Amino acid sequence: MKAAQIKKYGGSEVVEINNNAPEPAVSEGHLLVEVHAAGVNPVDWKIREGYMAQMIPLKFPATLGGDFSGVVVEVGGGASGFKKGDEVYGQAGALRGGSGSFAEFVLSDIKVTARKPENINHVEAAALPLTGVSAWQALVDHIGLSRGKKILIHGGAGGIGTVAIQLAKHLGAYVAATVGAKDMQYARELGADEVIDYKNQSFDDILHNYEAVFDTVGGDTYEKSFKILKKGGIIVSMLEQPNPLLMKQYGVNAIGQFTQVNSERLSKVAELAEKRVIKVHVDKIFPLDQAREALEFLQTGHPRGKVVLKMKNN
Ligand SMILES: NC(=O)c1ccc[n+]([C@@H]2O[C@H](COP(=O)([O-])OP(=O)(O)OC[C@H]3O[C@@H](n4cnc5c(N)ncnc54)[C@H](OP(=O)(O)O)[C@@H]3O)[C@@H](O)[C@H]2O)c1
Repeated sequence: MKAAQIKKYGGSEVVEINNNAPEPAVSEGHLLVEVHAAGVNPVDWKIREGYMAQMIPLKFPATLGGDFSGVVVEVGGGASGFKKGDEVYGQAGALRGGSGSFAEFVLSDIKVTARKPENINHVEAAALPLTGVSAWQALVDHIGLSRGKKILIHGGAGGIGTVAIQLAKHLGAYVAATVGAKDMQYARELGADEVIDYKNQSFDDILHNYEAVFDTVGGDTYEKSFKILKKGGIIVSMLEQPNPLLMKQYGVNAIGQFTQVNSERLSKVAELAEKRVIKVHVDKIFPLDQAREALEFLQTGHPRGKVVLKMKNN
């Protein structure tokens, strides 16, 4: 089968298309899935560069990619609840016991696989596993966001941010978002009540007394966010560990989120996609042959929403 692989850590030059990669053999508790589309996430280029080597030591050659949407072709022992021909989506990167989704076929653990949302196509579904579950885990499980609460979402036009704005509005919150200048109108269309241009405006001078911040950016943006929270508020960051000094100074709670994709959360996200509460915006679609270019575009091209690899025409 065809797969986008690396034989060593490095920049985009280490990504190779292997036309003769072995098809993964189905195993206990796993499904063999024909991949129709694979979502591209920042973690994929971070893995390629070796930033995650301690957490996920790869065996080379390693197939890149985690998010996928496709069709079950073989069911492993104990993988009850699934059958050949089922349309599924999920996460099948090395970290989740999968074989890597930037390939024609992928081995996926049933614990991180669920039925694909019915009324969206594979490209849209492949854009959702990590972003959708990240937004759900932060807003629902950690923050407990509810009607009338004020939340600031950093990186509102990114993969996670676009889902988070829509989910926060659905939960009845008042939503502010930081985005690049070109994405201000887009963030309003997603539902943001207040939109801040992160390069030309200082969100921490504009916003006050917020109950929550969802940070998908980190660094200075994370540190300055404490200032806008009211006492008892909460900040969840996708990149930073809690800063005890700032927590004490501002009297707020802080959580460093490690997104735990599981079939239950994937099913919740699928339900929201089916109800059109969450609409996926795919900025650019690449063929599998251009996995290298897709990763480069995500890393440097400032896409709006998601970048997706498309392996099949349906
Ligand atoms: N901890 C975990 O388990 C976990 C899970 C998933 C993702 N993550 C991490 O979470 C981060 C976000 O993921 P993603 O998929 O949403 O990435 P993404 O699609 O690349 O989106 C990032 C967004 O942040 C915006 N941005 C950059 N600098 C900003 C600033 N100073 N203020 C406001 N917005 C800014 C970018 O806008 P421009 O392009 O216009 O600059 C972009 O729209 C990544 O670093 C990813 O690795 C962590």
